[in-house]
Amino acid sequence: MIEVSRLTKRYDDGTVALNNVSLKLNRRITSILGRNGAGKTTMIRIMSTQLKPTSGTVKINGLDLVKDRDEIRKIIASIPQEIAPWDVASPQEHVEMFLSARGLKRSDIKHLAEKSLKELGLWDVRDKAMGGLSGGMKRKTFVAMALASQAEIIFLDEPTTGLDPISRLEVWSALRKINGTIVITTHYMEEAKELSDEVVLVNNGRPVMQGEVRKLLSRFNGRVRVEGPKGKYKVADSHISYMRIKDAQRLLKEGYSIKQISLEDLFIMNGGGAIED
Ligand SMILES: Nc1ncnc2c1ncn2[C@@H]1O[C@H](COP(=O)(O)OP(=O)(O)OP(=O)(O)O)[C@@H](O)[C@H]1O
Ligand SMILES: [Mg+2]
Repeated sequence: MIEVSRLTKRYDDGTVALNNVSLKLNRRITSILGRNGAGKTTMIRIMSTQLKPTSGTVKINGLDLVKDRDEIRKIIASIPQEIAPWDVASPQEHVEMFLSARGLKRSDIKHLAEKSLKELGLWDVRDKAMGGLSGGMKRKTFVAMALASQAEIIFLDEPTTGLDPISRLEVWSALRKINGTIVITTHYMEEAKELSDEVVLVNNGRPVMQGEVRKLLSRFNGRVRVEGPKGKYKVADSHISYMRIKDAQRLLKEGYSIKQISLEDLFIMNGGGAIED
């Protein structure tokens, strides 16, 4: 359970990245969504003790982020958005070093590392130097480190950015098998919907929406997405769009299509800026 209370982060240059945020995260997998610069990384870095808040408190399983920092570090693992590998070491060495640094027993390390490398499809390249691996393989190695960690709470900042569709499925499947709590950030709506029990949408340093995707979407029953050529689109009441058959037929001829409301629409309506009519 993570409890954020009146959290503000003002960087040295005056940028307010988080503005008086209060939030509770208690589901198994939570996805944080939001536009570039919304404050997701700042939030994750604070929750994982890498960055100090300007004001406000964060409690993780009842422990205070600032006062009980060392205790918290024992139960969390975090993979930052910008993380550079050690080029000469292999994926297996990365995972094993990570586990060793976290104080896991030698006898467990080999087995846990093997399991997570296999789950993420990295077993065949386990001995290659990271410098010679593709960007996606490096990314997956960092996910493997977090997965093998046995941490109670795992923070992953954009773990699947740049991954091919199969690698992404490998990451999802690995994440689903974890017993602990997972907080990820993502720009992939499909991922947030498929993977998480709850999403939090952040806009301009504040959460603007939180909940199960299915429940959030049900608020928009009776509305549809009308999509047009050149990327134009609009959310409309379904009875209007469907009943004016002539209008609908004309729109379809002009290349418009009518679709169900999706998480992407919620994103655009609640934090993605203006919608073009
Ligand atoms: N070290 C820093 N110094 C000053 N401002 C910063 C710093 N790091 C981030 N910011 C600013 O804080 C705001 C939030 O940034 P943050 O990295 O948390 O966004 P994000 O939601 O993770 O974005 P993205 O999707 O691009 O990763 C932005 O306005 C950013 O420019
Ligand atoms: Mg970020």
